Amino acid sequence: MSEKHIVVIPGDGIGEEITTAAIEVMKAAAEKCNIKFTFEKMYAGGAAIDKYGVPLPDETVEACKKANGVLLGAVGGPKWDNVKPELRAERAILGLRKALGLYANLRPIKIFSALTSKSPLKEELVSDVDILILRELTGGIYFGPKQEAHIVDGVEQATDLEIYTRPEIERIVKMAFNIAKGRSNKVTSVDKSNVLATARMWRRIADEIVVDYPEVTLEHMYADNCAMQLVLQPKQFDVIVTSNLFGDILSDEAAVITGSIGLLPSASLGDGGIGLYEPIHGSAPDIKGRGIANPIGTILSGALLFRHSLDCEMAASMIEEAVEDVLLDGYRTRDIYGQGMTRVSTEEMASRIIDGLR
Ligand code: IPM
Ligand code: MG
Repeated sequence: MSEKHIVVIPGDGIGEEITTAAIEVMKAAAEKCNIKFTFEKMYAGGAAIDKYGVPLPDETVEACKKANGVLLGAVGGPKWDNVKPELRAERAILGLRKALGLYANLRPIKIFSALTSKSPLKEELVSDVDILILRELTGGIYFGPKQEAHIVDGVEQATDLEIYTRPEIERIVKMAFNIAKGRSNKVTSVDKSNVLATARMWRRIADEIVVDYPEVTLEHMYADNCAMQLVLQPKQFDVIVTSNLFGDILSDEAAVITGSIGLLPSASLGDGGIGLYEPIHGSAPDIKGRGIANPIGTILSGALLFRHSLDCEMAASMIEEAVEDVLLDGYRTRDIYGQGMTRVSTEEMASRIIDGLR
């Protein structure tokens, strides 16, 4: 029996309910592959602002550094929308990514066969969609120097600067090529090299590096075109690699074509071995505490934790298959409910998935 230590950061809104559900599933899956977990709960986001006066207390960062993996619910909410920018709840996530060196964000966009009718796109366009978006996560305009609004020559202005260095681009495109080798060997690198200098450098570096990956086919696409292609012909994509800002936008777009952003997990990884796992949806404060939130995005994030931080593929695929089965059996939380289906609460969804683990 091996012991693994997991830091859980429920965050705000529905964060508590969905991480509780995911922990139950993770514990059950761990039993089957001889892992014993210890869980430690830490604060971040609005909850941390209320308790400590800052969105990301040092204790939280330190605890994460010692863990085998971090499971995060979601942060933010209207209660903390009017605080100073450096105190915003979102800063917690950005700070954690930076402090833990999590430069790569994996967002698998996979359609569940039971839910193709939930997609806003025609079923024939989305059936079998299986895209992996790899988003650069600790560079670019998110982390470049900023100047909040100020007056210059009588005119108000503000600045955000996009900076990318060669090593930042090299490591993320290499990761994309390595991931592609385990899939269908195709990578689409998305940029705006017709306008941005950082993107021209990105494209040149990707072209240089792909030479070392003869089996991989690299194509380049402008971000605006990619946004359009994702709804026109999503099946053309396999691995998409892109910058922090474009990855943020395109991954929401890609996610929603699966029918609900409540279903999708993400993993943020670096070279240090530690990973942060979170659903891609937000904290949904409007439905907090009502037991109707969809826990599947968080449960599947737990599966990714098994895969990428614990090297336990068996538990990862066991969870993924159980989710697939439960959906095929017609169990639905409110966000994905349809006529003739069985409506279940957050908690019931987790227990169905646990029952389905085999
Ligand atoms: C995401 C979120 C975050 C981001 C926010 C909450 C800071 O939208 O993880 O996609 O922009 O990266
Ligand atoms: Mg986002």
